[in-house]
Amino acid sequence: MSDPIIRITGLNKRFGDNHVLRGIDLDVQKGEKIAILGSSGSGKSTLLRCLNFMEMPSTGRIELDGKTVGKPTKASTASDVQMSYSTGELSEVRKRVGMVFQQFNLFPHMTVLANVMEGLVTVLKVRPDEARARSLAQLEKVGMAHKADAYPGRLSGGQQQRVAIARALAMDPEVLLFDEPTSSLDPELVGEVLNVIRDLAEEGRTMLLVTHELGFAYHYANRVLFLADGQFYETGTPDEVLKHPKKERTQRFLDRFTAFHF
Ligand SMILES: Nc1ncnc2c1ncn2[C@@H]1O[C@H](COP(=O)(O)OP(=O)(O)OP(=O)(O)O)[C@@H](O)[C@H]1O
Ligand SMILES: [Mg+2]
Repeated sequence: MSDPIIRITGLNKRFGDNHVLRGIDLDVQKGEKIAILGSSGSGKSTLLRCLNFMEMPSTGRIELDGKTVGKPTKASTASDVQMSYSTGELSEVRKRVGMVFQQFNLFPHMTVLANVMEGLVTVLKVRPDEARARSLAQLEKVGMAHKADAYPGRLSGGQQQRVAIARALAMDPEVLLFDEPTSSLDPELVGEVLNVIRDLAEEGRTMLLVTHELGFAYHYANRVLFLADGQFYETGTPDEVLKHPKKERTQRFLDRFTAFHF
């Protein structure tokens, strides 16, 4: 197997006394589609946020394409590595690891096109005419080019989320993180966003998706990770984890989703 695009070793995250992530280890190969499940508060968002350094890991190592992010400090021990990060290095990482949020996070005072162009112009220093062309191409891809001049407030949630996906894609990240991208949408809008994510999955981009859409996870992911007590409690193929979970808490979690089958 080739080197993983992401390697997480001994990742811990504490908020004061709240020890949220407890020694997470994970290798992600290029092109993998990973679905992450877990109860509310189990640390799914925190894990994604640590991966693009919106949250700083308390201890542990994250490697991106074979290169460790940050440098171990003197306080590190063999079992607990504490890193220091430079601002420049972290902004490099954030270019390579894109994120799509539950609440879209578009700038309300900027048009759809300006939202998608923003990172290209200010972070990647792409010339405005080229940034515009690249942004329009991404909007086309998510079926939103016709709304390029609209403001986010005039769009449905599903449309806003598709714009947010175009914005993330415009940066051409090596890894794309999705944090419950359909959770705040009305049920009839969920499908249009999942269709866009499915198309991306088929292109071979590496993606980690936190979701409660189990059917989608089942068809989309090559691996499912169930997070509980700050660790991956059960992992495997979608069939193993979603259809034939071996461990009690995974079964209980999944039962909640299937209680009202008809
Ligand atoms: N910035 C923060 N400061 C303090 N505590 C935080 C912070 N972010 C998250 N937490 C705490 O960390 C724990 C995990 O939160 P997180 O948002 O990662 O859970 P989650 O699995 O994404 O939940 P949900 O399914 O509700 O989105 C919670 O106890 C939460 O209160
Ligand atoms: Mg969350």
